[in-house]
Amino acid sequence: MCGIVGYIGQNDTKEILLNGLEKLEYRGYDSAGIAMLNDDGMNLFKVKGRIATLRDRVDSAVHATMGIGHTRWATHGVPSEENAHPHQSASGRFTLVHNGVIENYQELKKEFLEGVTFVSETDTEVVVQLIEKFFEKDQDTAEAFRQTVSLLKGSYAIGMIDAEDQETFYVAKNKSPLLVGLGDGFNVVASDAMATLKVTDQYLEIFDQEIVLVNRGFVEVQKLNGTVVDRKPYTAQIDASDIEKGTYPHFMLKEIDEQPFVMRKIINEYQNENNELKLDANVRQAMKACDRVYIIAAGTSYHAGLVGKQFIEKLAKIPVEVHVASEFSYNMPLLSEKPLFVFISQSGETADSRAVLVKIKEMGHPALTITNVPGSTLSREADYTLNLYAGPEIAVASTKAYTAQMAVLAILAVDTARAKGLALDFDPMQELAIAANAMEILTDQKETIEGLVRNYLETTRNAFFIGRSSDYFVCLEGALKLKEISYIQAEGFAGGELKHGTIALIEEGTPVIALVTQAEVNYAIRSNVQEVVARGANAMVVSMKGLEQDSDAFVLPYVHELLSPLVTVVPMQLLAYYAALHRGCDVDKPRNLAKSVTVE
Ligand code: F6R
Repeated sequence: MCGIVGYIGQNDTKEILLNGLEKLEYRGYDSAGIAMLNDDGMNLFKVKGRIATLRDRVDSAVHATMGIGHTRWATHGVPSEENAHPHQSASGRFTLVHNGVIENYQELKKEFLEGVTFVSETDTEVVVQLIEKFFEKDQDTAEAFRQTVSLLKGSYAIGMIDAEDQETFYVAKNKSPLLVGLGDGFNVVASDAMATLKVTDQYLEIFDQEIVLVNRGFVEVQKLNGTVVDRKPYTAQIDASDIEKGTYPHFMLKEIDEQPFVMRKIINEYQNENNELKLDANVRQAMKACDRVYIIAAGTSYHAGLVGKQFIEKLAKIPVEVHVASEFSYNMPLLSEKPLFVFISQSGETADSRAVLVKIKEMGHPALTITNVPGSTLSREADYTLNLYAGPEIAVASTKAYTAQMAVLAILAVDTARAKGLALDFDPMQELAIAANAMEILTDQKETIEGLVRNYLETTRNAFFIGRSSDYFVCLEGALKLKEISYIQAEGFAGGELKHGTIALIEEGTPVIALVTQAEVNYAIRSNVQEVVARGANAMVVSMKGLEQDSDAFVLPYVHELLSPLVTVVPMQLLAYYAALHRGCDVDKPRNLAKSVTVE
């Protein structure tokens, strides 16, 4: 949520900042700004809207070798030019960008900033005004910065520039992601290495409650008390081509198409040369030792967790509970004696999940994170990590990370079952390979799926997805995908549940998408389809080979029933994609959303 990029070096900073912000736009895109410092002073440009608008606004004649930029997802204050970052102190001397939420900003304002005129409604402005306030006392910027940061409660990644100092960049971090990138004669600051990969692949991880002083030739990491910390850089393992669209019109379409490759990558990464499963022995041990697994996740990752529960319970015979992260902390169930917490998160940064992680670590419970970003907060702070190997996911709507999450959960379940000596009639790698081929067949049927959108979704204002057993979980995901990018009001239901109330919404022509991939419930779900058709619904049945009937709108290639969600979701993703496209929506950057949700 919100993206930060900063540069201090020898070259003109404009393009580096704008390019970096474009790469970070997935983190928020309602307003943006950059500030560049040169001998003429601070050059500040802010806009409501996207980076493209900011690009038009920035004066191309400004030349500076130091600057910061920000792309915003509004928390405090509406999206507007005034609320856009960077924010400045009253005198204009200090300029600051912030990602996160300062929980005690009202208290700080009351205690220290009586009489100061604020120009924005943001929590961030309090931080920059506070720096100026403390500076007025001692005339020491580093000390004023440290004093201010020490008072902050909440989450923050901060970049700050003093207009009187063209040599130092002030950085601080707590809970929100921030990296410092190292170059030859320059250094950068970014929320995500993707932003600055063009200029460096060497990064320093910054931990919570650390301050960093960054100048052209050197970087000093300090604890809040001033103790200097020795930190070695690491090489960011992102291929620059992974973060480009290439010939695709949208990242989402590219990422849908990448799913078969991601499956094959996962097969490769989780298998040794003898074709045996290759998993961290500590993860295996933790799974074996627990008496109950608690899966914690949000949104699409939560939907993957629901499918994961089936894998773990059916294959490894361990009871599993799946919880929405934002609810768990406030409504914690009675825990078992030996719980293992499994956090599923594409970004590894979701604040709701992290809040649970912090709580359960305080309680002394073990945690495993399944994520696409190994160095992320949830990965670092959990005891163990399993990587998704999906490559950067840029489109706000998650696709390849979701299928990767389910694939890794299937492998985890089988590995645990084998470690427990349970006999299994399920070879995950072989079945995943079959699923990968099926995905490929489906991504080749885009025209057919686009045709279904014309018949069922182009003009509707609502849509329902029904399914039973694991199809129900895919219905939840299919509905989420559709609503988040096409703004069609969509809901997923357990097939038998619709008649307990929601069927009242079925009118002549209401689209109902029914998923039929589970033999055991084939008859039951088809009866539910008849119930809605009898009330005028425009029913689209998506069935799996072996269960199909002539009237079905779309038939999926056969895959093992357990893995059917990995494949069934592909046409759901494509339906959402084409529905959004046909309705003129911004597929990759739907309104009001951001990719990485780092506020609770
Ligand atoms: C929807 C989507 C979100 C995320 C959710 C959790 O397409 O992407 O629902 O799944 O915000 O994010 P992660 O997985 O990064 O924790």
